[in-house]
Amino acid sequence: MQSVLFVCLGNICRSPLAQGIFEKQTVDLNLSTFYVADSAGTSAWHQGEKPHSGSLAVARRHGVSIEKQRSRPVHAKDAEIFDYIVAMDLENRRNLLTEFRFPEEKIFLMRDFAKDGKKGLSVPDPWGHGDDAFENVFSILDEAMRGFIEFLHKNTGNKI
Ligand code: 4NP
Repeated sequence: MQSVLFVCLGNICRSPLAQGIFEKQTVDLNLSTFYVADSAGTSAWHQGEKPHSGSLAVARRHGVSIEKQRSRPVHAKDAEIFDYIVAMDLENRRNLLTEFRFPEEKIFLMRDFAKDGKKGLSVPDPWGHGDDAFENVFSILDEAMRGFIEFLHKNTGNKI
């Protein structure tokens, strides 16, 4: 069993969606027994809260379940627990490296797995924006996640 932690700033908008999309895609590919996922924020600002209403709505529209998730901050022990730590944006990645001092080899940037020519970019923060911003985040994550799961499965010695 391999473990993946998705990380954003508040753990209410992007990383809960990333976790839900990862869980749905791995179920759809019959790979869910190989992986476990969680998500966390580099801040504790929204600790204990449900995902943002915009994320809940877009997830529901696409048949992805995130209602049971609750925001939590990144913990020091996450570096030992998780095999892969996937940052939603460049600032999250920088904080994981410099503030949390997580090992570089475990840290990945979500959009580096995109095949739409958008490697190296951040998943834009939809907080404070409307439904369109959440829909845009969903489609970015849905596309990049396919590349990530392919990478993960090759890396763990399996073929999809
Ligand atoms: P997230 O979005 O990092 O994708 O969960 C945000 C949520 C809350 C805030 C910023 C971004 N905030 O400033 O409270």
